[in-house]
Amino acid sequence: MLVSAKEMLNKAMEGHYAVGQFNINNLEWTKAILLTAQENNSPVILGVSEGAGKYMCGYKTIVGMVNGMIEELNITVPVALHLDHGSFEGAKKCINAGFSSIMFDGSHYPIEENIEKTKALVNACDVLGISLEAEVGSIGGEEDGVIGMGECADPNECKMIADLGVTMLAAGIGNIHGKYPENWAGLSFETLEAIKNTVGDIPLVLHGGTGIPADMIKKAISLGVSKINVNTECQLYFQEATRKYIEEGKDLQGKGFDPRKLLAPGFEAIKTIVKEKMELFGSIDKA
Ligand code: 13P
Repeated sequence: MLVSAKEMLNKAMEGHYAVGQFNINNLEWTKAILLTAQENNSPVILGVSEGAGKYMCGYKTIVGMVNGMIEELNITVPVALHLDHGSFEGAKKCINAGFSSIMFDGSHYPIEENIEKTKALVNACDVLGISLEAEVGSIGGEEDGVIGMGECADPNECKMIADLGVTMLAAGIGNIHGKYPENWAGLSFETLEAIKNTVGDIPLVLHGGTGIPADMIKKAISLGVSKINVNTECQLYFQEATRKYIEEGKDLQGKGFDPRKLLAPGFEAIKTIVKEKMELFGSIDKA
């Protein structure tokens, strides 16, 4: 059964580790992440962007697939199905479709409008036991055509949004989606500390988990980050393994063209990187 992310993130905050959000794209992705979580006794959050939602034939299809897998694969660790960077409309659709967690990303609106729209979702999510993530200070990089500049969030604005009663808060601290450029200045721990000191006891979310060095991840966790999002890194692992299979001509040998064989190396590669992240985040055996 899907669960809200609230309990797993509060436990992570108290225990000084983080739960990974891994974005899904299809059946192989979902199965790889769920099995890795189960094998490592780790809680997990499956992230779905609006673009991936469309690609996978809509939110209801995804809810059906994930619930089916949890049952058929005997997944007993806590699993949250979470809308990633949702619009207001997307959030409502996911609530109706049976998601157990929602991110409403109002970071591109003026703060007053972000507050107003986030507030409208707080009650609905509360009543239904769905966790709600809000964002202040847009995350850089490109995701589904949305380009952010990688701002550092204003701690006072973070407090205004946190005080609305959201479950977890994503705040820009110089992080960006996708690969980090050579000249990236690194995470702003000063901003992270100021935000944590201002907002108090609410799990903080670090987006753009791909390519952040391990020591920075550990420091971010020690300063109050309890949820870390990873997307691009799984895609890169999948791509590399699939490329290798084809370049080695394995698709031309025997029944190597069978999609169940062709996609197997990519599937295993996702399992490898997800396990590595769970180790780094400290969520293993925390289910
Ligand atoms: P990356 O693609 O950089 O790992 O970021 C993922 C993310 O933050 C999803 O919201």
